[in-house]
Parts: sequence; C-alpha cells; structure tokens
Amino acid sequence: MAEKQAGFLPTQPWSEQTPLSEEFLSRLRAMERAYLMQESPLRQCGFSGSQRRWETQRRPIVQAIEGDGDLLNLGCANGYLLESLVKWAEEKEIFLTPHGLDAGKLLIEQAQKRMSLFSRNFYIGNAWDWVPPRQYLYVYTSVDLVPPEFVPAYLKRIGRDIVADGGRLIVGSYGSRSRQQEPMNLRYLFDDMGWATDGMASAPGGPDMPVAARFIWRDF
Ligand SMILES: C[S@@+](CC[C@H](N)C(=O)[O-])C[C@H]1O[C@@H](n2cnc3c(N)ncnc32)[C@H](O)[C@@H]1O
Repeated sequence: MAEKQAGFLPTQPWSEQTPLSEEFLSRLRAMERAYLMQESPLRQCGFSGSQRRWETQRRPIVQAIEGDGDLLNLGCANGYLLESLVKWAEEKEIFLTPHGLDAGKLLIEQAQKRMSLFSRNFYIGNAWDWVPPRQYLYVYTSVDLVPPEFVPAYLKRIGRDIVADGGRLIVGSYGSRSRQQEPMNLRYLFDDMGWATDGMASAPGGPDMPVAARFIWRDF
C-alpha cells in the first residue's frame, strides 16, 4: 500500500497553477451538448456500441472492487457507468454507494435522476481542480479527463486529495475504433510516474483492435 502525503484538501485551486486550455474546456461543453442530444443512456456516456459491448468493455472495472464502500466516478456523465458498476458489483455480493462528478450541469442532473436515492452524491466541477467534500474508498477516472500532458499530475493529485487512506484509485483508458486509437498502455504510464501497480484488467476488442480498454489500479 502506498504512503499518502499528509493533509488532503488542496489549498488553492489547481486551475490557478496550470489551467486547462480554453480549447479543452470548450470541447467539454460541446461534448455535453452532443451527449444530451441522444436518448440512449449509452450514447449519453459517449459510448457508441451496443449494450453487450458496453458490458464487455466496462465490466472489467469490477475486478478492482473487492469489498463494500463508496465509489466516486470522475467524469460520470449521466451516471450510467456508476449504475452499471453498482449492479455488477452486487452480483459479487459487494455493495457500492455511487458518487459522481462531471463538468456538465445537465449531465449531472441526468445522473441525479438516474440514481435519485443518491442525488446528493453528485457534483458539478472540473476534475482537475475540484475540491472534494470528503475522500472515497474507490475512485474511478479515465485518462481522458485532462489533456495527455497533464495526466501524471492529475492522477497524483487524485491519489493525494481524493482517495481515502486504504482506498484504491482505478484508472481507465478506452480505445477508439473510429479514430483507430488503441487504449493507452497504463502500465508504462504508472512505471513512468514511479507508481507501483496493484492490479490490472483489460477488455477484449475485435480483430481491428484486440484490446478495447485497459484498467489499472493502485492502493493508497
Ligand atoms: C466518455 S464520458 C465517460 C462516461 C463514463 N464515466 C465512462 O467512463 O464510460 C466522459 C465524461 O467526462 C466528463 N469530463 C471530461 N473531462 C472532465 C473534467 N476535466 N472534469 C469533469 N468532467 C469531465 C465529460 O463531461 C463526460 O461527461
């Protein structure tokens, strides 16, 4: 288990230290509009495949979930991933309480409707500089939430500020068939960051892209 640094709430917003570009933030706003033009909960998560493919490509995340607790999804969109993970974990008799953050206000409203019992657990904010009200046992984020050059700093700050002591940070990277882009090799990323790996999983793709998604986790 990695040692956490003392103190957990950042004293100043990260955006003051290294702002994400206006171009990145305006892409996020366009993404929210595009997601919400769709009816399907999958499309509202930016996923273009079938329900079956969703399950193949996201279920491996539950390999990282080994006991009951709170699960925070950074970039939760309409909450469909959280809802799916709660259900898949329940099949292993593991009970998760969902929490989510997204930059999109209307997406968060969708997530709150989807999981109305937990509507108070959803927040609007930028994962880069969001100040969490508390820490969480499980935190899941994909690497796409910040531009690639900010990923190591982003993950380090989540580990320091958002994952509870004894908690687990789970990181995902998704491939894109339309962009012919493979998921990132997260093991190399952790190695470059000097981070030990506590577990890994991957989701099978098709003949054109053998691995559709990769997941890696580290305990704190
Ligand atoms: C592709 S969807 C992910 C849906 C689901 N969590 C999953 O992993 O399948 C990405 C979501 O992350 C949100 N997002 C991207 N960058 C973000 C950031 N820096 N802070 C907060 N939300 C962000 C977008 O608004 C979008 O709803």
